[in-house]
Amino acid sequence: MSINITSRLAKFDELIPSNIPFVEGKLKGHQDRKNYSVIGPGVSEDAKQNVKIAEEHGFNIGAVSAAPMNGSGLHSHTTAEVFIIHSGAWRFYWGVDGTEGEVILKKGDIASFPTNMFRGFQNVSDEEALMFVVLGENDPGVITWTPKLLKDAKESGMVLMNDNSLIDTEKQKITDETKIIQPLEDNELESFDHYSSEDIEKFVIRFNDKDKYFVDDDHYQSNKIINYIDQFQIHDKSFTPNIPHATGFSLSLLNGKSAHIHEYKLEKSEVYHCLSGEWEIDCDGDKVVIKEKDTFSVPKNSLRSIRQISDHDGNLFIIRQTN
Ligand SMILES: [Fe+2]
Repeated sequence: MSINITSRLAKFDELIPSNIPFVEGKLKGHQDRKNYSVIGPGVSEDAKQNVKIAEEHGFNIGAVSAAPMNGSGLHSHTTAEVFIIHSGAWRFYWGVDGTEGEVILKKGDIASFPTNMFRGFQNVSDEEALMFVVLGENDPGVITWTPKLLKDAKESGMVLMNDNSLIDTEKQKITDETKIIQPLEDNELESFDHYSSEDIEKFVIRFNDKDKYFVDDDHYQSNKIINYIDQFQIHDKSFTPNIPHATGFSLSLLNGKSAHIHEYKLEKSEVYHCLSGEWEIDCDGDKVVIKEKDTFSVPKNSLRSIRQISDHDGNLFIIRQTN
């Protein structure tokens, strides 16, 4: 075996989360959440954030879990942010005061949020909930918080410095006050974009609506595919995306009890992420099985095949570098 493929396997139950990943980490409604970096560091502000697979993929994958009525405060990204819901019910809201619109998403739902807009989310179910997040680029940059969030965070003792380091002022003294990131001024807020609920709904695909989006890949009727983002190609067949964002990665879903894809090779990064079922991956003759919430990064240029092996319907996300 030339490559240790178990080092490319991210079993969810073995991941090490950060408990205070962001500047808002001590605020009510944000303090009871965990952040996981599965592929790449993502945008975590915690210098000690554990990163499971550090190799550059052209995108980052992370996860967020939160207790009821907890989640992320309003922030903006400079690269794509695509949410994959695993459990619970998540309310997404947006705009600088969080009142421009909202959408509630559940297991298997996908939402791609545009760059340059403030968005927040909270778990509105009555149990701990989990979702995964795909961010664009090798370096997804830093996030921009709303002025109110930064002010509230500072009152809680948490301060973000201009090198994006996070300081807990109860534990560490700030040596240079001029390096604290200041809340944006009103005129700076004008450059952010605004969306209605109808606008954002165009970037959402709900699992309950999957029959509207499924495409059969003509492979003995075993495989149903939804292509969410960017062009997806498998063997000789190409699938057009349902969400028009240029993210630098494709996101697709393979569904079926006997779903499988025969051997193929790919030069760019490719990741399999399991929503349900059990998927056996063969990679240059080495086998690995992923279950719900697990992620596997396929070695570039390896000859790979996958098949669903449980007695149930299975759903597998395929994420590929496209830029
Ligand atoms: Fe985000």
